[in-house]
Amino acid sequence: MELKLQNQVAIITGASSGIGAGVAKSLAAAGAAVVINYPVPAAKDGAEAVLAEVVASGGKGMVAQCDVSKEADVQKMFSDTVKLYGTVDILVNNAGLQKDAPLEEMTLDEWNFVLSVNLTGQFLCAREAIREFLRRGVDPKRSKAAGKIIHMSSVHEVIPWAGHANYAASKGGIMMLMKSIAQEFAWKKIRVNSICPGAIQTPINRNAWDTPAALKSLLTLIPYQRIGEPEDIGNAAVWLASDDSDYVNGASIFVDGGMLLYPGFTTNG
Ligand SMILES: NC(=O)c1ccc[n+]([C@@H]2O[C@H](COP(=O)([O-])OP(=O)(O)OC[C@H]3O[C@@H](n4cnc5c(N)ncnc54)[C@H](O)[C@@H]3O)[C@@H](O)[C@H]2O)c1
Repeated sequence: MELKLQNQVAIITGASSGIGAGVAKSLAAAGAAVVINYPVPAAKDGAEAVLAEVVASGGKGMVAQCDVSKEADVQKMFSDTVKLYGTVDILVNNAGLQKDAPLEEMTLDEWNFVLSVNLTGQFLCAREAIREFLRRGVDPKRSKAAGKIIHMSSVHEVIPWAGHANYAASKGGIMMLMKSIAQEFAWKKIRVNSICPGAIQTPINRNAWDTPAALKSLLTLIPYQRIGEPEDIGNAAVWLASDDSDYVNGASIFVDGGMLLYPGFTTNG
């Protein structure tokens, strides 16, 4: 049976842990060669472990160190990928972080750090991907589209988040970045969408699930009554990257167990 992403090449940023690692494994299982990005030498082992899992399951890929907030790093990651695999078909703009603080205590460095990785990093990677998609154009043997970008946003592109203004602002920014790029390049057959996870069990939100009390409190926000797994996001990413979603462009897909359903109103408000 033909795999959905056969012969395609995917770069996944921030893929040495959490959602990015899950997405890399899912895309590889669907046939893509995966570039597993990590930001600093300390994260290399994590990236290599993800690659080892991919290879053990019959997939292929490489690891790539790159700080997505640095233009030269991003350009090198894309040129190394093109050198090895010939092109890039899929970008999953996943790298992200939090530096939480009450607004009156939030430093400019904390603000700039989060925006530089979560928003500027997504711009820099998207720009390189678009350049490569425009260079290659549509190749029907690969996909109906010239390329696909998947931004990892969050339910916090629409749900305000006290104490996390820098993070929520970065995700709100991703929404308009994604829609503007989608509008600009749809006629070039480039598809650009976002996945907006709810609560997924990863290192970024450990304190929200690592004690029974924390998990119980978290579940009051999730109508479907379970925390999400990286694989839930990986499944959505495979669909968004494949021709099965060929008519989907400029969409924010919420994968959140119903977190956006105003669970506080379930019992009559
Ligand atoms: N876990 C959740 O509940 C949740 C919910 C909504 C959105 N998200 C988003 O999903 C994405 C992945 O987060 P996660 O939950 O897997 O957490 P995570 O901390 O496991 O993953 C974030 C990854 O980004 C990488 N990273 C950080 N700075 C980087 C940089 N400058 N360059 C390259 N990589 C960098 C980290 O090394 C890490 O691998 C983030 O964008 C996050 O905002 C997560």
